[in-house]
Amino acid sequence: MTDDLKTKKLTALQRMDCLFDKGTFREIDVFVSHRCTDFGMEKENIPSDGVITGFGLVNGRKIFAYAQDFKSKGGSLGEMHAKKICKVLDLAVSTGNPVVGFHDSGGARIQEGVDALAGYGEIFYRNTRASGVIPQICAVMGPTAGGAVYSPALMDFIFMVKESSYMFITGPDVIKSVTGEIISSEELGGAMTHTAVSGVSNFACDSDFECIEEIKKLLDYIPSNNLETPFVKECSDDPFRETISLETIIPENESSPYDMRKVILEIADNSEFFEISREFAKNIITGFLRVGGICAGIIANQPEYLAGCLDINASDKAARFIRFCDAFNIPVVTIADVPGFLPGKDQEFGGIIRHGAKILWSYSEASVPKILLITRKAYGGAYIAMSSRHLGADMVFSWPKAEIAVMGASGAVEIIHRKLLANSQNRDVLKKRLVEEYREKFSNPYKAASRGYIDSVIRPFETRAAIYETLIFLSSKKSDFPDKKHGNMPL
Ligand code: HXC
Repeated sequence: MTDDLKTKKLTALQRMDCLFDKGTFREIDVFVSHRCTDFGMEKENIPSDGVITGFGLVNGRKIFAYAQDFKSKGGSLGEMHAKKICKVLDLAVSTGNPVVGFHDSGGARIQEGVDALAGYGEIFYRNTRASGVIPQICAVMGPTAGGAVYSPALMDFIFMVKESSYMFITGPDVIKSVTGEIISSEELGGAMTHTAVSGVSNFACDSDFECIEEIKKLLDYIPSNNLETPFVKECSDDPFRETISLETIIPENESSPYDMRKVILEIADNSEFFEISREFAKNIITGFLRVGGICAGIIANQPEYLAGCLDINASDKAARFIRFCDAFNIPVVTIADVPGFLPGKDQEFGGIIRHGAKILWSYSEASVPKILLITRKAYGGAYIAMSSRHLGADMVFSWPKAEIAVMGASGAVEIIHRKLLANSQNRDVLKKRLVEEYREKFSNPYKAASRGYIDSVIRPFETRAAIYETLIFLSSKKSDFPDKKHGNMPL
């Protein structure tokens, strides 16, 4: 790819060329053509019926792909266009290989009416059936409006390109006529809106080229299907390397924030961490790393944002990521430093009970190896929710200064000694003493360790080695679930 193309909007064919290893892309269904005869369509020849489909190698791995071609009738989706996408999805599932879709389309081909709508339905049906069988990756690189947004939404990961892609159910014109609101396409459904505000998209990229490079990086962490595990990469970084910088990462003041991303980077091979949904629900971090070459999914509270509390968006983000990891045999490593669920009317009215339940559900249901590290605090329901032993964690580590309690010392003392404090002549001195007493008793990991809820209290410098060894020992984990059609997950 020439340098000048790296910043430009690419054509469908250029996108395929950029994705696949040189000379490996084989196009199929080039001669498929539409059979619409309404509105003068019988005279229209639409090259490839507006979508290029085929397969090839990406860093040596087999991948199926389709790319809608906006230059051919706006990439609009008619009956045969949809059939081509369905064929690729069917082949990807039957051969157990990931699919990548480049979306760039004016939506349902208006002239084809219900045949175009049927085409979308057939795609949605296949996206759903393929979910959890093969990874489905979608790059939105142009318009996506109306019901057309639902194919991306049914896939595993959505990438968008800033200033050139948008997704919405109803566009700015309809909104203006119905509600009077005036808003641009970019503001309503552009890459930053969906990556930072709605959480619909996982990535906002600066160009088509950057977007495709990121897709390749993602593919590197995930297996080709649900029967495989991610490949173990040769690793130049000593898995037993001491993580010395973690000894001093927790601030003296227990309520001061620190950057959890630094903890993750210190644990990861060569400080490489592929973060998912970085801009959305920043109070929780999700993404992939390798430790000693072994791939794992990370879910970690971020004390730098909302003190790392769990809220509606963090719950949705974490739950979806845990389910992806579980579906594709990727072990889950959780790093907890969580003061609780975020209090507030907005959270309650927005259904934090329903959303928070998704984390509990996802961890409980996940049968992949589950490792938990508690760095500083894990309080109340959030302690349970963050991959606790009680939800089936296989191995629980904590650093020596971690506090596991129903709540922080100060709040707890205010409640259990309310009367005593109210009657005291010297409230402040008494409270300080009671807080210290409480801390000694409950605000440490040893009570939980004495019950076996924590398996090992480790020094921060041992963290990478402990996680590496555990990933190796848990790799042969087998886990049974009672027979059922499927559970009724809170949604
Ligand atoms: C048929 C379409 C088309 C469509 C674009 N074209 N969208 N043809 N059906 N849905 C054609 C145009 O007629 C034109 O053909 C060519 O594509 C390029 O379109 P332009 O309008 O010239 O391009 P541009 O100015 O860049 O505008 C792009 C656009 C606009 C914003 C996407 O075309 C547009 O608003 N299209 C309609 C979008 C829409 O409402 N789609 C339906 C969404 S609902 P020629 O021959 O002149 O080159 C939906 C329901 C799905 O999709 C339901 C699933 C359950």
